[in-house]
Amino acid sequence: MKKILVIHGPNLKLLGSREVKVYGKVTINDINRALSAIAKSKKVSLEIVQSDHEGGIVELIGKAKAKFDAILINPAAYTHTSVAIRDAISAVDIPTVEVHLSNIYAREEFRHTSLIAPVVMGQVSGFGKMSYILGLEAVISLIK
Ligand code: DQA
Repeated sequence: MKKILVIHGPNLKLLGSREVKVYGKVTINDINRALSAIAKSKKVSLEIVQSDHEGGIVELIGKAKAKFDAILINPAAYTHTSVAIRDAISAVDIPTVEVHLSNIYAREEFRHTSLIAPVVMGQVSGFGKMSYILGLEAVISLIK
């Protein structure tokens, strides 16, 4: 069975109460439940992790090559700042899809740049929980 690592970046465990006008009322548990249901129906396995720590995310990605066939990541604020996460994705060279709940290109200018986008297969941005669902479908189609 193919294995996919799902990484939620910083502050995403606060979804549901965090900036509801931007992110809606969906919680990380709602997202994880939806992803797990898709994984079950498509017969892939998921490991889902949330981390607020850049170094922790870098470590997870660095170890992913041995264990996972693909990565689905919402790097959250690190999208716009982290050369380290970008380099880790580039180094492991396994299919990775980047997702964002909000449309980062319709928000503040500092969010318009993703340091991650050039090293992933593609990006889904702006569809709330559906960004993760579309991202997971894309990841599965890349590895099947
Ligand atoms: C986000 C967008 C980022 O700019 C922001 O820092 C986040 C969440 C999103 O899912 O829309 O924390 O990645």
